[in-house]
Amino acid sequence: MGEYVEVAEVAELADGAMGAVRSAGRDLLLARVGEAYYATQLRCPHIGADLARGSLQGTVVTCPRHGSQFDLRDGHVVRWTDRGGVALAVAKRIRSPRPLSVYPVKIEGERVLVDPGLDGPSDRTPSPA
Ligand code: FES
Repeated sequence: MGEYVEVAEVAELADGAMGAVRSAGRDLLLARVGEAYYATQLRCPHIGADLARGSLQGTVVTCPRHGSQFDLRDGHVVRWTDRGGVALAVAKRIRSPRPLSVYPVKIEGERVLVDPGLDGPSDRTPSPA
């Protein structure tokens, strides 16, 4: 277990909002859904788009580049690109679906803290569903 690092204040992130934060040299996506906060890797596991430029519906973030979707609660892949048929088969062959790395978040007073996991494996994501 690493140490928690402050990445934002509670008032900075409205319900349903997300944004890029930097924690101990690692770029992360921080999102708020209701009273829950989620932190994941910032870059899409497909080919690296900035997920903070995507959209958020509930706990599902959609990548702005090719439409892959991930559930922020555990990082699992909801959809691997927005392509179908042969194009999807090619996309999966080039880069197999992989989940987002997720990081523990806690709130202390008005501070949002994330454990960027610097002393352990960077991928704390459970196996894809
Ligand atoms: S870079 Fe995110 S879906 Fe392609």
